[in-house]
Amino acid sequence: MSTLSRDKQIWWALLLLAVTFLTQQCAAIKWLGLNNYSQLTEGRLQAEFFCNRMRQLDVLNRKQFKFCKKFAVERSDAGAVSAVIKSAHITVETCQKQFRHFRWDCSVLRHVPELAPELKSLTAEQALVHALSGLVLSTTFADECSRGLIRRCGCGRQPTWLARERPQQQFHFDGCHTNLRMGQRLARKFLGASRSGGGRGRRIGRGRRRGGRGGRRGAGRRSQRREHRRRKVQLEGHGSRSDRSRGRSKFRKFVQMVNRYNYNVGIEASRLSEAVRCKCHGSSASCAIRTCHKVLHRRNYQHLEHTYIRRYNRDPLDVLLEMYDKKLRKTVYSESGYLGYEEPCSQEDRSSNPLRAEPKCENYKVVSGMPTKNDVLLFHEHSLDYCHLRDGRFPGTQNRECLPDGSPAAQRILKSATAGPKRREIVCSVMCCGRTYRNVTEQHEGTHEECQKSSCKLLTNPYRVICTPCQLLKSYCN
Ligand SMILES: *[C@@H]1O[C@H](CO)[C@@H](O)[C@H](O)[C@H]1NC(C)=O
Ligand SMILES: *[C@@H]1O[C@H](CO)[C@@H](O)[C@H](O)[C@H]1NC(C)=O
Repeated sequence: MSTLSRDKQIWWALLLLAVTFLTQQCAAIKWLGLNNYSQLTEGRLQAEFFCNRMRQLDVLNRKQFKFCKKFAVERSDAGAVSAVIKSAHITVETCQKQFRHFRWDCSVLRHVPELAPELKSLTAEQALVHALSGLVLSTTFADECSRGLIRRCGCGRQPTWLARERPQQQFHFDGCHTNLRMGQRLARKFLGASRSGGGRGRRIGRGRRRGGRGGRRGAGRRSQRREHRRRKVQLEGHGSRSDRSRGRSKFRKFVQMVNRYNYNVGIEASRLSEAVRCKCHGSSASCAIRTCHKVLHRRNYQHLEHTYIRRYNRDPLDVLLEMYDKKLRKTVYSESGYLGYEEPCSQEDRSSNPLRAEPKCENYKVVSGMPTKNDVLLFHEHSLDYCHLRDGRFPGTQNRECLPDGSPAAQRILKSATAGPKRREIVCSVMCCGRTYRNVTEQHEGTHEECQKSSCKLLTNPYRVICTPCQLLKSYCN
């Protein structure tokens, strides 16, 4: 009895080791290291050199390397690979900009392909980075396609939803429609994140059903491979090793499945960007005739009713940030594989019939399968402590900007009904993790982003903008 339990202990220790090792192996985010490189120039030789080099440096995994070769070398299509490089730039920039106010500020992406500890396992931060990069890849590919920069990928189709949503108005279409569907398809291809339930990027409407678990596409080939491996292990006759490798491959599949899911959350969110931009013709402001084309809406574009029609009201970036802030779900994994994810109990669950056999839902219940609506991010490991230096080189929150707890801005956030726990991290007591902070008065040019509103004026005669230097009161963690 006691030897058995010791065996079991050893087995678990090995599994844990394998798990730690494998999560590092499966980190599929290293391609963001392309951030450090400039656009690929035309030419097969350079392209081949580039793809090989990126593979050597482990920036591209095997699938991504294949993508690189297929497009840049075989098809002499440098544009597709340049779009990936551009996406890496945009992802890193956007992430750092959006996360200035969170304890985890995304600065670790500057080090990729070297990975900070939180990017080596299935943390909330890794999930967010995956989703964000899926979003950026889809929209960047789509833009580059409609600009004619990627071969075999041109303009998209006319938006059919417009006539449905505004039946009483007349639209003429002109120009190149953005090709988001193709953008999403290329993103999935590069990421090896083919959607579960098969279908080659087919769109089945908004409330698409997804296959419950993992990718079914290529499942045949995969199961063949698995069978092959199993036989090989049997022939070699190492019982314990086969157990271990089975555990390992199961865990690897689990990691891939979660990564693929998070990537797809971003890829799907890109559809929120789809909009139609129109120009009005005819007598002034009557807008009797509109010529329109489909575009991808970007944050801060001007929203004028007659010239810009959005299909959705939400920015995909906000949607992803909100998921990171409030809609994270922990996955449940055991010896036998992926079991599901934790969902908070609903009111109904809590007050379930006491005569029923199953225990009452106290906090969380486990839902099997994958989330179907793409409205949550999945993680497995709890986040690290981002307060302090990690691995001797990834900084904590020292010198980070924060809002003094008593300040009106901080109070607004603390009292807001929509801000989740992570949005509140901007407050000094949280950002500085209990350490003190300092107040600093800074002088800036009037054109500084945070000054413009208060210190710039539009003069009409002569027509120009004048800005006066501005003072900003800021606080930083010690
Ligand atoms: C990226 O480039 C910068 C300089 O351009 C360099 O200092 C840095 O080490 C590079 N990062 C990686 C991960 O290669
Ligand atoms: C910093 O300034 C805020 C007002 O903006 C004040 O409430 C706070 O006490 C100051 N903190 C320190 C450490 O000076």
